[in-house]
Amino acid sequence: MATLGELFVEGVRRLAQAENRNARLDAQVLLEHATGMERSVCYAYPEREVTAEQEQHFLALLERRLQGEPVAYLVGHKEFYGLDFLIDKRVLIPRPETELLVEAALEVIRRKLSAGQVPIIADVGTGSGIIPVTLAVEEPRLPYLYASDISADALEVARLNCQRHRVAQRIRLLHGDLLASLPERVDVLTANLPYIGNNEIDMLTADVFDYEPHLALFSGPHGLDLLHRLLIAAQQLAILKEKAVVLLEIGYQQRAALEQFLHEVWPQATVTFTKDYAGWDRLLLLQT
Ligand SMILES: C[S@@+](CC[C@H](N)C(=O)[O-])C[C@H]1O[C@@H](n2cnc3c(N)ncnc32)[C@H](O)[C@@H]1O
Repeated sequence: MATLGELFVEGVRRLAQAENRNARLDAQVLLEHATGMERSVCYAYPEREVTAEQEQHFLALLERRLQGEPVAYLVGHKEFYGLDFLIDKRVLIPRPETELLVEAALEVIRRKLSAGQVPIIADVGTGSGIIPVTLAVEEPRLPYLYASDISADALEVARLNCQRHRVAQRIRLLHGDLLASLPERVDVLTANLPYIGNNEIDMLTADVFDYEPHLALFSGPHGLDLLHRLLIAAQQLAILKEKAVVLLEIGYQQRAALEQFLHEVWPQATVTFTKDYAGWDRLLLLQT
């Protein structure tokens, strides 16, 4: 019978050999999932024996990880902004940089609430629902928010996450292309839409390209098609209320192209960018 410690060491060894840069963390997360034991137990009692089924489960997960399947899909969940979200192959795996967008959106929302407004909010391309669910949990004064996606499969996952975090009554899920199904004008529009260009496919690692939904990744030759379409639709459909704010996550090399585009199509808007921790402009904030 193997022990927790032995399985952990074996997992780290095989992952490191395969040049996995998160070998220790991945092995730990898979071990917790396979045995149902918390991290503290795994560390404190490495000599504890596991059952044959737990060992088989761990080794099977390890094998899949070695083939490239992302940890979040293997264990079925991922943390984002301190909350645990259900994640499967129907949705993009939440990325830490999207926390920047949530933080900025909360700041805007709280400013509006402090001024006595109750802002109407919509998140477009909501995927697993991390953005609206986090906003609803963090800001209980918001009566409701809209969350839309073109993928009915993704919306099923978002629905589960709304229930998991007890905000299902406050999040209105909409199925449709970009803003098409939005029933009213909004004060705050958030979106982390696909922004990878077809010209960047070669730069993607296999665990992204082979496993994550392509509908959640790609957006035309330079990754800008959906962002352009959303900005044009927001303007043409007059979907934004007075003094509305649009917050968009963008690709790390897209600032100049978006600045130029907005200068041409929306010259009266005020546009600012925020950098991520690596120093790239990753968040576009537009005020009408
Ligand atoms: C990059 S993922 C982001 C998911 C989630 N917002 C997050 O931050 O993890 C983009 C999402 O946009 C959706 N999407 C793609 N094209 C769309 C469109 N034309 N209209 C609405 N949603 C779209 C995809 O289905 C996917 O769920």
